[in-house]
Amino acid sequence: MSPNRIRNLFLVTATCAFGACSQGGTSPSKEAEFLRQSEELTARFQSELQMELSSALSEVGPVDAIGVCQSAAPAIGARLSEDSGFTVSRIARRNRNAGNRIPPELEALYSDLETSPMQDGSPRSIHRTVGERFVYLRAIPMQEQPCSTCHGSNIDPALSQVISQTYPEDRAVGFEPGELRGAFLIESASRDLTEQSQSFE
Ligand code: HEC
Repeated sequence: MSPNRIRNLFLVTATCAFGACSQGGTSPSKEAEFLRQSEELTARFQSELQMELSSALSEVGPVDAIGVCQSAAPAIGARLSEDSGFTVSRIARRNRNAGNRIPPELEALYSDLETSPMQDGSPRSIHRTVGERFVYLRAIPMQEQPCSTCHGSNIDPALSQVISQTYPEDRAVGFEPGELRGAFLIESASRDLTEQSQSFE
């Protein structure tokens, strides 16, 4: 028995033992657990990035904050991926870093978020099974402050020059508040779906 299966069995037992076991002893589904973790991971990504960004903006100013954005976002994504076992990243149609482009199979989901980035006053999220994996997307809406300093229509020329030196193919400018700036993306490993049917049959 693989360590994962042992862990799953333990989870079923522990959940039932604590009385949260509904519907005849089934464990909470992998999908529900994926969703719960995705919500937590995107909240952490957002707050950690916001902290790094606002301290960089106030300590070194926007020009030097470019370097912070360049290294901080991928580093946070990598650490959250390692912690969770999922793949945690950011994607955008009009991206600054082409490495953040939308994977073709998620195009339709992204377009859906684009048509309405907000729901009940919060960034909207969507989750689906795509191929063999679960995916979760959470909207990152454009805000006036501090985002328009680096993604708006009226970027300071000195800053604009540094951005285009670092990102010659930059497409992430000219955004209006409320538009979809990008999305957090959480993806499970494809084996997760197969494991679910094997572990709980
Ligand atoms: C100091 C300038 C700066 C500010 C302020 C800033 N960003 Fe960015 N942003 C960047 C840079 C640089 C990148 C490219 C990072 C990389 O290389 O992965 C980026 C990338 C992104 C991406 C990833 C997709 C892409 O375009 O490559 C999103 C989404 C994003 N920013 C959203 C925001 C939002 C929302 C705000 C406001 C809360 C914001 N940014 C504020 C500089 C900034």
